[in-house]
Amino acid sequence: MFKKNNSNNSNDRSSFTSKIGFVLAAAGSAVGLGNLWRFPYCAAKYGGGMFLLLYVILAVTFGFALMVSEIAIGRKTKLSAIGAFDKLKPEYSFVGVLASIVPVIITPYYCVIGGWVLKFLWSYIAMPANEVAATNANGLTVFEQLITSPTEPIIWFLFFLGFTILVIAIGVEKGIEKLSKILMPILVALVAIVAVYSCTLPGAMEGVKYYLRPNIKDLSVKTILSAMTQLFYSLSLAMGIMITYGSYLKKDVNIETSVWQIEIFDTIIAFLAGLAIIPAVFACGSPENLKAGPSLMFIILPQLFATMQAGRIIAILFFFLVFFAALTSSISLYETCVSIIQDKFKQKRTPSIVFTFFICIIIGLLSSLGYGPLAMVTFLGMQFLDLFDFLSNSVLMPVVAFFTCIFVGYVIKPNAIIDEVESSGNKFKLKQLFTVVIKYIAPILIVIILVASLLQAFGKISM
Ligand code: TRP
Repeated sequence: MFKKNNSNNSNDRSSFTSKIGFVLAAAGSAVGLGNLWRFPYCAAKYGGGMFLLLYVILAVTFGFALMVSEIAIGRKTKLSAIGAFDKLKPEYSFVGVLASIVPVIITPYYCVIGGWVLKFLWSYIAMPANEVAATNANGLTVFEQLITSPTEPIIWFLFFLGFTILVIAIGVEKGIEKLSKILMPILVALVAIVAVYSCTLPGAMEGVKYYLRPNIKDLSVKTILSAMTQLFYSLSLAMGIMITYGSYLKKDVNIETSVWQIEIFDTIIAFLAGLAIIPAVFACGSPENLKAGPSLMFIILPQLFATMQAGRIIAILFFFLVFFAALTSSISLYETCVSIIQDKFKQKRTPSIVFTFFICIIIGLLSSLGYGPLAMVTFLGMQFLDLFDFLSNSVLMPVVAFFTCIFVGYVIKPNAIIDEVESSGNKFKLKQLFTVVIKYIAPILIVIILVASLLQAFGKISM
C-alpha cells in the first residue's frame, strides 16, 4: 500500500504509489463491519428512512468537513494524530491522545463480531442452510446459542484475533490488501444480489418503505446521534485514522475529490447492506426484530438464506467475504493500536504487538461473555459490547470531533486547511460550506447531541 518516496525530499515518510491507491486504502479502512453489520441494525432500530436521510445529510456536511480536515492535517504535518496536534498547537495534543483511545476500545470488540462472522461461515460449511436458520430443542437460534454460551464466543473471538495477528506477524498485510481489491468488488456485487432478492420476497415492500421513506415521527435526538456516530464509525473519523492516512498522501492528490469518492463508496455499500437486511425483517414476518440491535444481521440473514435456492453456497460465499472485509479492517485497527503504543510509550514493535494483544484479550473476553455468563453485569443498562461501542462511538468520538472542529475553526483557522487542499493545484470548490460547517454547524450540533445523549444515558430525560 505504501511505497518509499524516492524524491529528494528529506522527509523519508513513505507515500501512496498512486492517486487511486490512496482512495482504495482509505476506502478499505472505511468498509467493514461498520457498513455490513452496524449500519443495517442502526437504521432498523432508529426509524429506517429518517435514519437514512439524516445519515446522508450528515455525510455531505459533517463527514465531508471532518474528513477533509483530518486528511489535510495529516498531509500538512506528515505526522499521525498525537504528533500532528502537538506540532500545530501543543495545547491541543490531548485531542490526538483522546482520538488514539478510540481504536484501542474498538479493536477488541470488532474482533468479537468478526468471531461471530466466522462462526456463521463455519456453520454453513458444516450444515445445510435450513439447519442454520432452525432453533434447537430449547427454542434458541444458532445465534442465541452462540452468544449465551460460556465458551463458544471466546473461541471464535480468539480465532478471529489469531487470524489478525497472524497476518501482521508474518508480515503479509500487503498481500491481504491486494487480495481485498479483488474480493471487495465481489462482496459489493453479492450484497447487491442479496438486496435484490430480499426486496422481491413477499411482504418485503413494507420493509422497503420503512427503509426509504422518512417518517417525521422518527426524528429525535437519539436518531441524530446514532446517525452521527454511525457516520464517524463507518468512515473511520474522529479517531486519528484519517490523519495518519493523510500523512502518507502526496501533495498532488486532490483531497476534496478523494473524500467524495471514499464517502460515496462507503455509503453505497452500507445502503445496500440495509436493503438486504431490513426488507427481509418484514418478509420474515417479525418486525419486532427491527429493535434487535447488534444481533440483527445474524438473526435475519440465516432466515433469508434458508429461503434461497443455493442458499448455502451463497451464505458461505457471503460470510467468507464479510470475514475478509472485517479482517482487512481489524488488521488496520490492530496496526493503529500498535503504532499508538510504539509512539506514545516509546516501545519497540514486538512488545507493542504483545501489549495490544493483552488489551484485546481483556476487552474482548468481557465483550464475548457479556450476553451470556456476564449478562447480569450491565452499565447504564448496557452489556459490555454495547458499553464499549457506546463509550467509543457516542462519547469519545463526538468529543474528538468537537475539538477537531474548534481546532480547525478557531486555532489553525479554516484557511490553513483550505490552503493545504489547494496546494495540489486545484480549487477547493466547497470551501464556503466547509468553513460554515466546521466553525458553526458541526460544533454546535455536536454539543447539543452529546449533552442530550448523556442526560438520556443517565436517565435524566427521555427522548
Ligand atoms: N470503518 C470501519 C468499518 O466500517 C471500522 C473502523 C473504525 C476502522 N476505525 C477503523 C477500520 C480504523 C480500520 C481502521 O467497519
